[in-house]
Amino acid sequence: MQSISEMIQPIKWHSEQLHLLDQRLLPLQQVWLGFDYPEDVSNAIREMVVRGAPAIGVTAAYAVVLAAREAWNKAGINWKQAMIEPLAKLAASRPTAVNLTWAIEKMTAVYLNQPETYSAEAALLEAAIEIHQHDIRSNQTMGKLGADLIDADSTVLTHCNAGALATGGFGTALGVIRQGFADDKIKHVYVDETRPWLQGARLTAWELMQDNIPCTLQADVAAAALMASGQIDWIIVGADRIAANGDVANKIGTYSLAVLAKYHQVKVMVVAPLSTIDWQTASGKQIPIEQRPSSEVTHVANQQIAPEGINVVNPAFDVTPAELINAIVTEAGVVLSPSTSTMKNLHKQN
Ligand code: MRU
Repeated sequence: MQSISEMIQPIKWHSEQLHLLDQRLLPLQQVWLGFDYPEDVSNAIREMVVRGAPAIGVTAAYAVVLAAREAWNKAGINWKQAMIEPLAKLAASRPTAVNLTWAIEKMTAVYLNQPETYSAEAALLEAAIEIHQHDIRSNQTMGKLGADLIDADSTVLTHCNAGALATGGFGTALGVIRQGFADDKIKHVYVDETRPWLQGARLTAWELMQDNIPCTLQADVAAAALMASGQIDWIIVGADRIAANGDVANKIGTYSLAVLAKYHQVKVMVVAPLSTIDWQTASGKQIPIEQRPSSEVTHVANQQIAPEGINVVNPAFDVTPAELINAIVTEAGVVLSPSTSTMKNLHKQN
């Protein structure tokens, strides 16, 4: 298994700057962008320089450090007041991934405890690094817990990218896949290309190939035929927000996979840290679903493929009802057959 230093890591802090691997350009180019201002980080999250719920949370934590520096430089002892606007913008950058507000709330609790007479940058940086490292440790724990659920020589299918690129490192769904491959539980991975943004084709395929994990890329619409052929044992995905009853918001197309899986008796595993669970939201019906620009559907790699002026709907996520999910894997344990009552075992630990 990889050490942390060998892992793909999409988020780094060095030279007093936040650095993000620009995921819009992968896998053809590896370009790092440096950030000094929270507003630029908000734009980077919205524009998908960094994406994936846990990675958005870790990025937001570092953005709070940048906000504190800017607020201190601009407002001196009134810096706490000057934090409010940039953090509100940050929180609004993507609405579905609850890790974003989770991280901002954690960091807010840290800075509210600091004196007004000097900058909180150092204390906040320490807290952001801990959020980042905790995310990687959680992924490694979930990798083991998830792999334990899988029989030897299984074939799995994943959707979107819930890998190292979508987290602090190692990945949630891809963490289970990495661990499952190392333990001879998983022999092959089918990767949905994941229209419209192609996270599967561009990011998951790249990550799996970097790790020499045998994989095959298919168009999303091929998933039903693959399941019908009896080749798939598990669907393994991440989550952007899990409601208190175990309903899961994840990349658009996850719900259709789960419906297909039920029909074909394929099991569904959702892998996500506790920071993705929204205990305030009783069911998936209340989860806000981000609508993305129509150009993501009408264009591929900046090339227009649909008629000018066509109406487009582009929800970034859908909600899979808990009853279609066999297991939710978190760092605090596994919930089998998720429901309001089985999820409560985790709530006690959060
Ligand atoms: O729009 P994205 O690329 O941010 O969507 C990402 C997903 O849906 C992931 O499956 C989810 O955030 C979990 S990432 C560990």
